[in-house]
Amino acid sequence: MTATIAIVGAGNMGTGIVRRLTAAGHHVQLTDRSRSKAVGAAQQGAAGQPGSASAVSEADALRADIIVLAVYYPGTVDFAVANSAALAGKIVVDIANPLDETYIGLSLAPTTSAAEELARALPRSTVVKAFNTVPASTLMPVELNGESLDVFVASDDDIAKAKVLALFQGSGLRALDAGPLANARLLERLTAFAIEIAQRYGLGFGFGLKYLPARPLTVSL
Ligand SMILES: NC(=O)c1ccc[n+]([C@@H]2O[C@H](COP(=O)([O-])OP(=O)(O)OC[C@H]3O[C@@H](n4cnc5c(N)ncnc54)[C@H](OP(=O)(O)O)[C@@H]3O)[C@@H](O)[C@H]2O)c1
Repeated sequence: MTATIAIVGAGNMGTGIVRRLTAAGHHVQLTDRSRSKAVGAAQQGAAGQPGSASAVSEADALRADIIVLAVYYPGTVDFAVANSAALAGKIVVDIANPLDETYIGLSLAPTTSAAEELARALPRSTVVKAFNTVPASTLMPVELNGESLDVFVASDDDIAKAKVLALFQGSGLRALDAGPLANARLLERLTAFAIEIAQRYGLGFGFGLKYLPARPLTVSL
């Protein structure tokens, strides 16, 4: 049976994730504190794509098999604590970068990550890190200077990680297995570092991360 997918948060990333997942042919449910925002993001994100998206209530979104939290840290943890029973047994995807007010530093010590803090709040769920290195502005066109971008997927649960990696088939993003969830520490810092370089060169958020070689890679371990 195909896994059902829901996104919590219909902002910049929620809309861009709808675009990439509907490009891959998935049906995606989207919820937000503002229903009209969720309706607009579902329409905008899925426009012209083979898949589809619909705005749903929070209760309906919590029934999905895979739930992407497209909200800020520590709002991710607040949401998890408030909904831990409904999220039990589910795959919860963390996309957060816990940036501090400088946007080039993190509000968490290097000994943890937003993804691990989320996992601590959800002991009965499986947390997967994904999407955090991809700026929202690059998700709609997906290519930057003619190059497709990479998304790094990390989790301690290989089955959940494989399910999330599989979602990207046909999405326009190349998904790479980024190892255990603790590697989210690196992925979050890598994003802050990429933002710092982008600031230095006046790129704003018009940057993307790509691991070479660019051809499809197969895990050999
Ligand atoms: N923007 C990027 O380029 C980028 C790139 C990689 C990763 N990220 C990460 O992606 C996450 C989202 O960023 P974003 O730029 O998409 O933010 P955003 O544009 O502000 O969107 C977040 C949306 O989620 C809603 N929301 C917040 N808490 C909610 C809740 N409990 N239930 C339902 N909806 C809720 C917000 O509503 P309100 O406005 O009412 O709060 C807002 O509509 C962050 O963790 C960020 O670190 C962002």
